[in-house]
Amino acid sequence: MSTMKNSFKDQEQFHPSWSFSKLMAFFFLLISISYLFYSLRFLTHSHDCDQNQNFNIPITTTTTTHISKQESLEPSNPFEEEKTNISHLVFGIGASAKLWKQRKEYIKLWWRPNEMRGVVWLDQKVKTQVGEDEDSLPQLRISEDTSKFKYKNPKGHRSAIRISRIVSETLRLGMKGVRWFVMGDDDTVFVTENLVKVLQKYDHNEFYYIGSSSESHLQNIYFSYNMAYGGGGFAISYPLALALEKMQDRCIQRYPGLYGSDDRIQACMAELGVPLTKEKGFHQFDVYGNLFGLLAAHPVTPLVSLHHLDVVEPIFPNVSRVQALKRLNGPMKLDPTGLMQQSICYDKTRTWTISVSWGYAVQIFRGIFSAREMEMPARTFLNWYKRADYTAYPFNTRPVSRNVCQKPFVYFLKNAMYDNDTNQTSSQYIRVQQNPDCKWKMEDPAQIKLVQVHKKPDPQLWDKSPRRNCCRVQHAKRKGVLVIDVGECKEDEVVEL
Ligand SMILES: *[C@@H]1O[C@H](CO)[C@@H](O)[C@H](O)[C@H]1NC(C)=O
Ligand SMILES: *[C@@H]1O[C@H](CO)[C@@H](O)[C@H](O)[C@H]1NC(C)=O
Ligand SMILES: *[C@@H]1O[C@H](CO)[C@@H](O)[C@H](O)[C@H]1NC(C)=O
Ligand SMILES: *[C@@H]1O[C@H](CO)[C@@H](O)[C@H](O)[C@H]1NC(C)=O
Repeated sequence: MSTMKNSFKDQEQFHPSWSFSKLMAFFFLLISISYLFYSLRFLTHSHDCDQNQNFNIPITTTTTTHISKQESLEPSNPFEEEKTNISHLVFGIGASAKLWKQRKEYIKLWWRPNEMRGVVWLDQKVKTQVGEDEDSLPQLRISEDTSKFKYKNPKGHRSAIRISRIVSETLRLGMKGVRWFVMGDDDTVFVTENLVKVLQKYDHNEFYYIGSSSESHLQNIYFSYNMAYGGGGFAISYPLALALEKMQDRCIQRYPGLYGSDDRIQACMAELGVPLTKEKGFHQFDVYGNLFGLLAAHPVTPLVSLHHLDVVEPIFPNVSRVQALKRLNGPMKLDPTGLMQQSICYDKTRTWTISVSWGYAVQIFRGIFSAREMEMPARTFLNWYKRADYTAYPFNTRPVSRNVCQKPFVYFLKNAMYDNDTNQTSSQYIRVQQNPDCKWKMEDPAQIKLVQVHKKPDPQLWDKSPRRNCCRVQHAKRKGVLVIDVGECKEDEVVEL
């Protein structure tokens, strides 16, 4: 870097002096002549030219290209390094032996044994099923003893100290080529492609602490708005983990009164002076009930993680929690960047509002709702204190309408596949819950039995500035089928009637 800057400076100094450039021209002529002689010599004597090759470059070219050659010789410019990929991440999963039997099923959902590196840190030994578990889960390790640390929070549990130290314990394993340590709980599900996409935006050679807050305003007040919630998962760049490891044990001793593991990490980050870099796709999900409202109006940012899946209802109705999550694997494989991304459009002839949460659900509303309403999550969930309270969240939500006619018709993902003829994904959504009777004269969405969404995969979606995709209602050939096209908005295309 520094060499490059100097050469540019030199060039600037050359330009203003005209007589000097004349001198330079003469100089080049001289060199060119000597080069001619040199080349002739080169033709006659065919011997080792390794040493002379360096000399070759400046002579045959002008000063400008001379600079660019030097630039390309510069070693290890961080932005010329290979992009961050899954091999540069190491996961540290906090787990307990007591819940391991159920929780390991969540890890199996996203863990790719041959591509990922990571460790599940347990408090004590667990029974492993030889074969099945070993092949589909990260290695298991027992955390170091933490009984020498003080823990004085009356409500919490001292395992918080053990889990907080996972970052340091994982670092001390000395794995090679690590750029990011990613922490998560045993009930955190990561969307790997999107996690990598998010981390690619940041220079791993710098200090970064990346994650997100809680959906509970009060939790954020009790803990900190500057804290990455551990269940939603967070990432620490390698050099920051190194700095943390050196001071973490001393730091932990200074905060015996804190509750959890993630507030202990935040306390140490504060001492290191490193703020939280917020990425809204990490989801702690400190809510109860039905996540539908949140997932159907995901912020315009990649979906990175889901958490508290034991606490909330299954994300698809009438199936188990793990089965429901497995259903997301289809769309996740086809078009991970687009997963859960919302698009909003209108069926003009029938005056319906349509909201697509790609790969998850489609909603049809009678009447026209504005985009600013539709992008707010509907409060289908309760707050962390099990109350329906719109002041509980650090973001806008909208109430679930009490009017029977305004209750949306919800179509959940049934399957998703790639259509080789059109090079698009084709996903199908069906309705499993009945809607109440409505006396409005408007056309009844109940006539729609199946919603079909066509969308081209867009791996570069997040390399561009954040923007919702547009959706368009297509002319349906079959009765009872609503066909929707989702894709980048065209010029002048907006959500309007
Ligand atoms: C990840 O990047 C490294 C270079 O840092 C490269 O050697 C490796 O092949 C890449 N792996 C994948 C899975 O792309
Ligand atoms: C799903 O469950 C609900 C009640 O929980 C039931 O009314 C409905 O018939 C079920 N649907 C299907 C498709 O099984
Ligand atoms: C589409 O093409 C891919 C490979 O190009 C192939 O693996 C897949 O089976 C094809 N799908 C269909 C439905 O023909
Ligand atoms: C689909 O992609 C294939 C391979 O990239 C290409 O040959 C074909 O023309 C595409 N088809 C359409 C309809 O775009």
